[in-house]
Amino acid sequence: MLFIGIDLGTSAVKLLLMDETGTVKNIVSKEYPLYFPHPGWSEQKPEDWYRETISGLKELLTGFPKEDVAGISFGGQMHGLVILDENDEVIRPAILWNDGRTTKECDYLNYEIGKSTLSEYTANISFTGFTAPKILWVRNEEPENFARIKKIMLPKDYIAYKLTGVHCTDVSDASGMLLLDVKNRKWSKEMCEICHITEDMLPKLYESYECVGTVLPKVAAELGIGDNVRVAAGAGDNAAAAVATGTVGDGGCNISLGTSGTIFISSDKFGVDKNNALHAFCDANGAYHLMGCMLSAASCNKWWMDEIIGTKDYASEQKQIEKLGENHVYYLPYLMGERSPYNNPNARATFIGMTMDTTRADMTQAVLEGVAFALRDSFEVAKSLGIPITRTKICGGGAKSPLWKKIIANVLGIKVDVLETEEGPSLGGAMLAAVACGVYESVEAAAKKIVKVVDTVEPEVELAAKYEARYAQFKEIYPACIPVFDIITR
Ligand code: XUL
Repeated sequence: MLFIGIDLGTSAVKLLLMDETGTVKNIVSKEYPLYFPHPGWSEQKPEDWYRETISGLKELLTGFPKEDVAGISFGGQMHGLVILDENDEVIRPAILWNDGRTTKECDYLNYEIGKSTLSEYTANISFTGFTAPKILWVRNEEPENFARIKKIMLPKDYIAYKLTGVHCTDVSDASGMLLLDVKNRKWSKEMCEICHITEDMLPKLYESYECVGTVLPKVAAELGIGDNVRVAAGAGDNAAAAVATGTVGDGGCNISLGTSGTIFISSDKFGVDKNNALHAFCDANGAYHLMGCMLSAASCNKWWMDEIIGTKDYASEQKQIEKLGENHVYYLPYLMGERSPYNNPNARATFIGMTMDTTRADMTQAVLEGVAFALRDSFEVAKSLGIPITRTKICGGGAKSPLWKKIIANVLGIKVDVLETEEGPSLGGAMLAAVACGVYESVEAAAKKIVKVVDTVEPEVELAAKYEARYAQFKEIYPACIPVFDIITR
């Protein structure tokens, strides 16, 4: 039997083919454009996602027995608003998770409705990237589009809808809409009223590992697979990555270094950070998790390498870095504003501390370190809640760099377990499909069988102490910059 995981990411859709033992047979990636129509806005076209997914699926299956495909599932970029009209046409481009346009709507939700009320209804407060404030933004700024809304969905759910005809989502991804009563895993009637929508516009809720339907005959024919192929609801990309890294059950930790950077803590019990700096979401295994999300992580390095230095050879640039823990240059990684823990769409990326002897390698090092320090900011929130974290798994594009893993282990002062495959959401999606097809009796059972730790990066006493001192300095920079960020974004 073969299973397909579709990771609908921000830079590309990543497709993974896995057999029932968890062996990865093929991986294909297809890029699509990201649009920034105004500074701080971020959009994509759902039609681009679907076209590239279908083209990627055809490539993925080339040379493999298509009739053996038994299940498909997803990990997907979270929070994006996809709206369809009565003819199932996409009304406007999707507004993405890293879009900062909804400051006014977030202020309304957080300060007029009130954070404690939102937290009572949904276990979370409003962040600019979340879905509910975007619905309010469309209502305020594009009333003609708002009036046409018949279906609301998240990015990966658009692909599931096109593949199966079922308007569905899963509870982990739905948690990031600010419309879900996370504790009870059902839509919040109060939030629907606040957002002026009706529950029938929202997708039907499933657990991540549940089957929502089978592939439509016309899609099956196009792909050459059977029309009995089961499609499971899937998960938000971070919850799917947690499945792929075996971060399920109580007290697990996973760091994802993708376009965003997340620190994900799995838990058996429902719990909320009293300051709501960490998100309290449903997990892909039927339980819960807490998560901090920084909006720009590996994307900072990609931006610095591709756009500024102008190289694709990341490894050679990183080879020049020698003085770990001794860098005088600091970098705040807020290219798209910041979510966790600061919730500030006006924050901007910043280099500080350069002198005439500063080198290109120091700047590259500052970018890698700045992302690690910013992850530590969310890690500190988790520690302040009394959550003991002594080790973490790691995945995502950034996890391919041994240097970055070493920096993270030493900045956080914890062990970093390296996995056989860092694919994250696409592998998690394929594993959820295997659970939905009954190959594994639970998400935990699949993780136990499939996930393999192949190495551990340990913090080093001397280096961790140096980074402790650097982090103490880093922490002072953001608060000092807040008034400047407010001035320059006015
Ligand atoms: C999580 C978040 C990001 C996106 C990236 O809350 O916004 O991790 O899911 O794809």
